[in-house]
Amino acid sequence: MCGIVGYVGDRNAFPILVNGLKRLEYRGYDSSGVALAQNGEITLYKKQGMVKAMEELALAGDTSGSTGIAHTRWATHGQPSDENAHPHVSNSGNLVLVHNGIIENYQALKELLQDNGFEFHSETDTEVLVNFIQYIQDQEDCKLKKAVRIALAQVIGAYAICIYDKNKPEEVVVAKLGSPLVIGLGVNEKFIGSDATPFLEYTKDAIYLEDGEMATLTAEGELDIRLIQSDKAVNAQVHKLQMDLESIEKGGYDYFMMKEIYEQPRAIYDTFRGRLLPEQGMIKMSGLEEYADRFRNADRIIMTACGTSWHSALVAEYLFEEFARIPVEVEYGSEFRYRNPIIRKNDVVIAISQSGETADTLAAIKMAKEAGAMVFGICNVPGSTIARETHAGAYTHAGPEIGVASTKAFTSQVTVLTMMALELGKIRGEFSTSQYRALLNELSVIPKKVEKVLESKELVEEISALYKDANNALYLGRGVNFPIALEGALKLKEISYIHAEGYPAAEMKHGPIALIDENMPVIVVAPNAGHYEKLVSNVQEVKARHGKVIAVVTEGDTEVVQSADHVIEIPETLEALTPLLTVIPLQLLSYYIAVMRGCDVDRPRNLAKSVTVE
Ligand code: F6R
Repeated sequence: MCGIVGYVGDRNAFPILVNGLKRLEYRGYDSSGVALAQNGEITLYKKQGMVKAMEELALAGDTSGSTGIAHTRWATHGQPSDENAHPHVSNSGNLVLVHNGIIENYQALKELLQDNGFEFHSETDTEVLVNFIQYIQDQEDCKLKKAVRIALAQVIGAYAICIYDKNKPEEVVVAKLGSPLVIGLGVNEKFIGSDATPFLEYTKDAIYLEDGEMATLTAEGELDIRLIQSDKAVNAQVHKLQMDLESIEKGGYDYFMMKEIYEQPRAIYDTFRGRLLPEQGMIKMSGLEEYADRFRNADRIIMTACGTSWHSALVAEYLFEEFARIPVEVEYGSEFRYRNPIIRKNDVVIAISQSGETADTLAAIKMAKEAGAMVFGICNVPGSTIARETHAGAYTHAGPEIGVASTKAFTSQVTVLTMMALELGKIRGEFSTSQYRALLNELSVIPKKVEKVLESKELVEEISALYKDANNALYLGRGVNFPIALEGALKLKEISYIHAEGYPAAEMKHGPIALIDENMPVIVVAPNAGHYEKLVSNVQEVKARHGKVIAVVTEGDTEVVQSADHVIEIPETLEALTPLLTVIPLQLLSYYIAVMRGCDVDRPRNLAKSVTVE
């Protein structure tokens, strides 16, 4: 987590750095800071809280300078505070550093430095790192880049760093291991970002630094990229960025989350565009075609992901088993990586991640690859680490997702996974052409149906007003909509801070039913699908305990509607595709409740969008 921005060139660095930080706030917003090179000195502004607070502080001072580095923090070592905010300056006052990641051996390095007279003013591992580089530079009497290289070779952990020396501010050194770092190449200027959004309006030429690489940047000179361990020069590939500025701005919505909820018809469409070909009765996914044999002969599919992406894997588990008849296991990346899982050569691993940077998912991928499994990635961010680390994959094409709570990425992931389940069912000869075609045709009209669900916005807003003060909420669903109950509960807790639980509806009587009283909103995902009759009984059980039922039902519902306190309708669709519709009212519900409770839905407390630490 944490966001890094850097600039070296002939413009005023400060506005570039601050705007860049604002775009990276999805990576953390506990504190922020900027260091500007001014007449041989380092001018530092740091402040706890959002970037705006630091910006106001800085604007009251001198913000000149055409080299600068900046940081927005998600706290790991040390609480959010002005002192712990980056950038950190070395004891000599010469070096200034921003860092994203965790230095695991920071305690040992700190003790070494303390024994050599270094003092510390923060609780961060970053302050240790900048002083360690300083220590090496003093010992070796060498240039900054050599000191960085020697120091990093002794560091254990993950990092993306950006550092300069006040005596040579025209040269910035960056390095990466495990945390992302992108370099933007302008004319007589260079940009640095944790992703490319900070410099989109200035250049479309970017280099994604690989793990174990470092680079020395000057405004006009060639980029010098080298391997940290061997100092060997690297020929990096320049990528043309496809993203545009409009796609990362709010476009008239109060929050990115709402914009992204509304983008879902388009995002789902973009995800299947060119792949889902109902007229020809086929699905074309190049990543899948390339590894068709591995999928056809797979003994088992292991899906690994975290958070919302894990929920899309759970939806897929139902679809893959139903259509392709392949056994599926769904694993949290964080659990999978630390046990001793049985991975066989004939297993196929599918890793799902919006950001493509989630540390636990990435570690699970590495482990699976080492065990000889083929790993297929489903990512939203082009060029992300997971997209590059996997053997093959499919992008979701949802466009940049900025709101911390994932919405359109989820429905796009479910869309990709649905297409994969259908295609695998076909290549494994598991279901009839007519069933396959019916699903293809229906998937192609889902964006229109999502638009229809979005028309329930006012109704959901009214319902939200009634339950905004709840302390708890229970979400129930069955079958392919059980993961939607989990997802609805996650959305509510992460942005409104209301405690919420998702359960398979039938499990309610094994415990959670004890929670139900007249103050408990119970959100039941009850489309007219497979287990409908059972859900009708579950709704009655809740009502018998005076719970308040908010039900998501199919248009024309006749039974749940009789006992529920509120119903939100979705259009009729095939059971397998209901998650793409039922999740929408749950996203809206959590959005409105959070807004009504005065929460910042795009930046919920303690969270960050991209979780690049384990
Ligand atoms: C919840 C949310 C998180 C992410 C999780 C995985 O709304 O956004 O739970 O889903 O951190 O992130 P990715 O998909 O980027 O790997």
